[in-house]
Amino acid sequence: MNQSQHVVLAAAIEGAPRADHFRVEDCPMPEPLPGQILTRIIYLSLDPYLRGVISGRHMGEGPILPGQTIPGRGIGEVVVSRADGIAPGDIVLGETGWRAHAALDVQTVRKIDPSVAPLSAHLGVLGMPGLTAWAGMLKLAEVKAGDIVLVSAAAGPVGSTAGQIARMKGARAIGLAGGPEKKRLVVEHFGFDACIDYRDPDWRAQLKAACAPGPSVYFDNVGGDVLQAALQDLAIGGRVILCGLISQYNGDAPPAAINAGLLIGKRATVKGLVVYDFYPWQEAFLAEASLWLRAGTLKMLEDRSVGLAQAGAGFARLMAGQNIGKALVAVGPEPA
Ligand SMILES: NC(=O)c1ccc[n+]([C@@H]2O[C@H](COP(=O)([O-])OP(=O)(O)OC[C@H]3O[C@@H](n4cnc5c(N)ncnc54)[C@H](OP(=O)(O)O)[C@@H]3O)[C@@H](O)[C@H]2O)c1
Repeated sequence: MNQSQHVVLAAAIEGAPRADHFRVEDCPMPEPLPGQILTRIIYLSLDPYLRGVISGRHMGEGPILPGQTIPGRGIGEVVVSRADGIAPGDIVLGETGWRAHAALDVQTVRKIDPSVAPLSAHLGVLGMPGLTAWAGMLKLAEVKAGDIVLVSAAAGPVGSTAGQIARMKGARAIGLAGGPEKKRLVVEHFGFDACIDYRDPDWRAQLKAACAPGPSVYFDNVGGDVLQAALQDLAIGGRVILCGLISQYNGDAPPAAINAGLLIGKRATVKGLVVYDFYPWQEAFLAEASLWLRAGTLKMLEDRSVGLAQAGAGFARLMAGQNIGKALVAVGPEPA
C-alpha cells in the first residue's frame, strides 16, 4: 500500500468552523526515516485548542494555511519501526495530525499499555484533558473537603474530570453546561451535586442558590459572561483556575477583560493553567487516574465521529458546543 489520506484546511476559517472548511485528500504513504516509526492511526483527538492553532493564536503555533494538514494528537499502531525499543504492533500516542498514517520521531511518542484502559481513554480522561483537570484541581486549586467547586463546560472531558476529582476529595461539585441533556449527564453520569444549564433564562439565580454561600473554587473553561458571573458569586478568598476561553475561540476580538475590582473585593487568588507545565507528572497522574477509572470512581463519556472524512464535521460540532463527551474520531480499527 503506497497511498494514504490526510485532512487539509480547505479554506481559512472565520468565526465558527464548518465541515466544509476541511477536505480529505489522498497523499503518499509516509516513509519513516531512521529513528522514526510508521503508525496506522486508530483514534484522533479533537480539541478546542486546535481552533487557535488553525488561526495562529495558540502559544505561537500555526497558522495553518489552506492545503496544509490539520495538526492534532492521535493514537496509532506501529506498522514499521526504524527505531530501537519499539516494534510493529506497539500502540503509541503522539502528534500525528489528522492523518490515516503518520511517520513520527520515536522520542516524540508515548507508548500506551493497552491493558490499562480502553485505548481511546488516553486521549480524554487519561490523556491531556484528564491531566489538565488533575493539575488544576490538585496542584493549583489544592481542592479539599468542604470546598464548593464550580466548573464550567462540565460535560466535557476537562470539566467532568475536574468535578469528579473535586468530589473524590470531599468537595461539593457544581457544574455549568449547555442544554438539558448535558445537565442531566453531569449529575447522573459524572456524579456532580448539581448542574446549571446556562441557557436557562434564570440561570444566574439557579447558580447563586446551588453554590450558596459562594464557590470557594471556580474552574473556568469558557471565559466571557460565565466567568464574570462566577467571579461575582465567588466566596471571599476564593481560588480561580483559568483553564480555557472556549466562548471566545471562534471570535477575532481579544478575550473580554476581567473585572479587577471584583478580584480585589473577593481577595481572590487567580492562577492560569497550562497543561504542558504538568507533563512531568504524566506518569503519576496516569497511575492514579487509571485506578479510578478501573474502580468506576472516574467516569468517561465519548463523542465519536467515524472515519477520517468526518473529522471536520466532528470538530465543527465541538466548537458549536454540540459534542457530548470527549470529541474524537475513530479512524481505523483497534488491533484484534
Ligand atoms: N489550559 C490548558 O492547558 C487546557 C488544556 C486542555 C483544555 N483546555 C480548555 O479547557 C476547555 C474544555 O476543553 P475540553 O477538551 O474539555 O472540551 P469540551 O468541554 O468538550 O469543549 C467543548 C464544550 O465547550 C462548550 N462551548 C463550546 N462553545 C462554546 C461557546 N461559544 N460558549 C460557551 N461554551 C462553549 C460546550 O459545552 P456547553 O454546551 O456545556 O457550553 C462544548 O461542548 C476548553 O476551553 C479548552 O481550551 C485548556
